[in-house]
Amino acid sequence: MINWYDDLPDTKPKYLAITKLIRSLIQEEKLLPGQRLPSERKLADVFKVDRSTVTRALLELSSSGLLIKKSGSGTFVSPLPQIHSTTRKVDWNLFLENHETTYSSYQSKITQARALNNHTLLDGAGNELPMELIPHLGSLQINWQNFLIAQKQSQDAGYLPLIQTISEMHEKRNQFKLNNQSLLVTGGAQQSLLLILRSLLQIGDSVAFAQPSYFNSSAIFKTVGIRTFPIPLTSSGIDIDVLEKVILKHRIKLLILNPTFQNPTGEIFSLEQRQRILKICQDYQIAIIEDDVFGWLVDSKDEVPTFKSLAPENVIYISSLSKLLGSSTRIGWIVAPQAIGQRLLQVQKKLDIVPSMLAQVMANLALNDKSFNSEITTLKLELAEHRHIVSQIFYELRPNWHFSSPKGGFYLWVKQDDPEIFENLLKKDILVKPGPIYGATKENFRFNFANFNKDELEQLSTRLKK
Ligand SMILES: Cc1ncc(COP(=O)(O)O)c(C=O)c1O
Repeated sequence: MINWYDDLPDTKPKYLAITKLIRSLIQEEKLLPGQRLPSERKLADVFKVDRSTVTRALLELSSSGLLIKKSGSGTFVSPLPQIHSTTRKVDWNLFLENHETTYSSYQSKITQARALNNHTLLDGAGNELPMELIPHLGSLQINWQNFLIAQKQSQDAGYLPLIQTISEMHEKRNQFKLNNQSLLVTGGAQQSLLLILRSLLQIGDSVAFAQPSYFNSSAIFKTVGIRTFPIPLTSSGIDIDVLEKVILKHRIKLLILNPTFQNPTGEIFSLEQRQRILKICQDYQIAIIEDDVFGWLVDSKDEVPTFKSLAPENVIYISSLSKLLGSSTRIGWIVAPQAIGQRLLQVQKKLDIVPSMLAQVMANLALNDKSFNSEITTLKLELAEHRHIVSQIFYELRPNWHFSSPKGGFYLWVKQDDPEIFENLLKKDILVKPGPIYGATKENFRFNFANFNKDELEQLSTRLKK
């Protein structure tokens, strides 16, 4: 039984939502080859839209070959392919089309801008720290023979000394203890998320996450066939009423959050917000995935207990070195209740997505470097200074840009009135990350303030003055 209206994704414009729904119904074989679709009028009624919106969606699906319109008798799901005698060449376009998303179209504009104006561009669209701010850890020496010996200290969960280092760091920072928990090393936070979804969910299962958020443009959910439901972010964390409504309407299994220096807003969820979210998740038996990739950058005075420390048995915690030592380190980790940890390990092995031992040994050396802690302290101070300068420039030169100054991290999340802001700033050679990438409107953008040295900050000021 197809729930045409209930299953309609929350995508705008509406015709795209209809296109997406029908495409997924065909892919999931809920609509079978040759099956006749309800009439356009009927679909317009169930979707509560104009008939022209349905016509546009069906036309799009027909032109991509998924539907065929037979005049006088209606619209049908295309039959399975027959032998095609006119050409022996595979039509690769069929594989390539339909993969254009808001993310990929903006991302290609960003890539193009970087390629074209490499020297003049003020790049506030980056996801990570610039090289100059990444902790200076000197040379991490390892001789090859020692590395071969170090390999013997590896377990299924990863390189044992690295696991110990990370466990101790979490305990020292008072984030949580690892009693009855498993810690396994992965190839970064994204890979951790993929592993968790692949190991614990089935195709068609549902997860919820905040919107705007980094997860909005993640390709992972689609890759594993997971349905996603965005929950609006409000000034007091996520909208609990909407969360409850979504839980009551769909079988949400996981809630995925990035509660410390949320990407893109930079917010830290307060303890009270965390407790409210936990309560509702406990009431409805929903597990939480806590993505804490920015946790390194929080000052001890602003630190709020992690979800993991508040409810260790209900939360899977993920973090990585990407936001501190650069994303190419590809080292992350998962802390999960033991039974879940075992399942994750089995799947990790089965899929052969075990992180390189060389990277793990290097990461352990980096984390144990004697200047590691002082470098983080310096980094936080430098980030605070950058944030202050950029905020001042924006306050002064763009009084109609609204943003709250986060307590850390490296992003400012700006809201203003111009829907063409991405393009208009690009004309001044200023690159930002547009709101739609995070599921927000075009009037929002994210600005990475860490990325600029003194000269560039002056340039930023000059260009915004024009
Ligand atoms: C909230 C969040 N989680 C995960 C990631 C990806 O982390 P990794 O590079 O470890 O896969 C990012 C990167 O921007 C992020 O912002």
